[in-house]
Amino acid sequence: MYIGIDLGTSSVKLILVSAEGKVLSSVTNNYDLLIPKPMWTEQNPNDWYVQTVNGLKELVKGHKDEIKAISFSGQMHGLVILDEHDQVLRNAILWNDQRTVEDVDYLNEDIGIETLLDATGNIALTGLTAPKLLWVKRNEPELFKRISKIMLPKDYIAYMLSGVFATDVSDVSGTLYYDVKNKKYSEKLLNILSINESQLPKVFESYEKIGTLKEEFKKSLNIKQDIDIIIGAGDQAAGAVGIGIVDDGLASVSLGTSGVVFVASDAFKEDRKSYLQSYAHANGKYHMMGVMLNAAGSLNWWSEKIFQNFNYSDFFEKLELTSIEDSLYFLPYLSGERSPINDPDATGVFFGLRLEHRKAHMDRAVIEGVTYALKQSFDLIKDLGVEINQLRITGGGAKSQVWAQMIADIFNVEVLTIKIEEGPALGAAILAMVGNGLYNTVEEACLDIIEINKKYTPNKANISLYKAKYSDFLKIYPTIKKLYKDI
Ligand code: XUL
Repeated sequence: MYIGIDLGTSSVKLILVSAEGKVLSSVTNNYDLLIPKPMWTEQNPNDWYVQTVNGLKELVKGHKDEIKAISFSGQMHGLVILDEHDQVLRNAILWNDQRTVEDVDYLNEDIGIETLLDATGNIALTGLTAPKLLWVKRNEPELFKRISKIMLPKDYIAYMLSGVFATDVSDVSGTLYYDVKNKKYSEKLLNILSINESQLPKVFESYEKIGTLKEEFKKSLNIKQDIDIIIGAGDQAAGAVGIGIVDDGLASVSLGTSGVVFVASDAFKEDRKSYLQSYAHANGKYHMMGVMLNAAGSLNWWSEKIFQNFNYSDFFEKLELTSIEDSLYFLPYLSGERSPINDPDATGVFFGLRLEHRKAHMDRAVIEGVTYALKQSFDLIKDLGVEINQLRITGGGAKSQVWAQMIADIFNVEVLTIKIEEGPALGAAILAMVGNGLYNTVEEACLDIIEINKKYTPNKANISLYKAKYSDFLKIYPTIKKLYKDI
């Protein structure tokens, strides 16, 4: 049996999976999100650790002798710093923390986007790890001097459980001090950040074994056999493995609070316009992704903040009765936007309201607007020469058949849903299986374990109607962009 641990932002989810890929049990333990100032987000790594160990104790009950390997998925980009005695120096600064605007400007403007792209394949975003290090250096110089180890969230848990200071290619891709294409730390960025390689973990492929579970845990869990620790991946790469997005050109759209368009690619591809993130994948290859901040998040805002007593099936039924040809548009930039416009000042907009419009027309505009915004990232990836014939959708929003069909029609591509949706934790368990030798490759494991649920084929009549609307949608943001700065 294999354990997948997903260290998320609100909770840690642990699943126990059989050699046949069946999920036997699951434990979720919550921890606090600390918001010391508006736009700042932190967590105490000790909370992650305590809740992970509590979860492990519960999960292994009754199966102690059968467990072979553990692997991880984790929230990406978070900064965890330890001193020379392995004491955590400060709370972790998380992926969604926005304190680094000044440091991001320094990197993108003073160092320059071209230099960053040449050195790492990516540009600076407020969430990434490198600007967080610059922030600590500027604001907490005494702590900065005492840094002995720099790690990412899941790597801290792997370190505590195995004693091995390690990370993986997918997660370290999101630090901005790693040369993604050549899979090595970027000397240039380490110099800019005033850090050196001895402070950084050894980088493994996501499916590689880094060591075994420490004796003290084996004792406290009453386990006799050795348990392999496989390093695992960042949550986006692990999530992609969990739904089988591992072959060249396979793509997914995840409709969680945020929306992610993810494409697996055998070769490293970079978007020099930098609207996408180009990272190493958990299968030893590469991937690209566009992350929009409010996908199902826009729907939640519309349904819960604007309309209370909301019924989702009723919502999608009524929406379906409205005409696609109706010219009402919604820009989903409710908290600024990452991909594809990278504009923190952007806000949400309804455009085209008329007397005849009712709520259902606005419902349609919200869902269409999110789908058009995702399509923009999808098109950017296709423009790089990636052929995409099929899309798997996942996350809360994927439960709606109406939305799934709309994605098929707007993207003009076949859309599939997956049978078992365990998210990144299943991806982590699959990496544990590969690292422990049950499968030779991640691709082989996915082929065996992931099952397709439903298929949605683009509806010919709708394709051209949506195509015309999408091209109008694309005109709105560039026209009003300047107003976001002025007003
Ligand atoms: C990816 C990203 C998020 C975090 C948190 O770039 O910011 O997916 O990993 O889940």
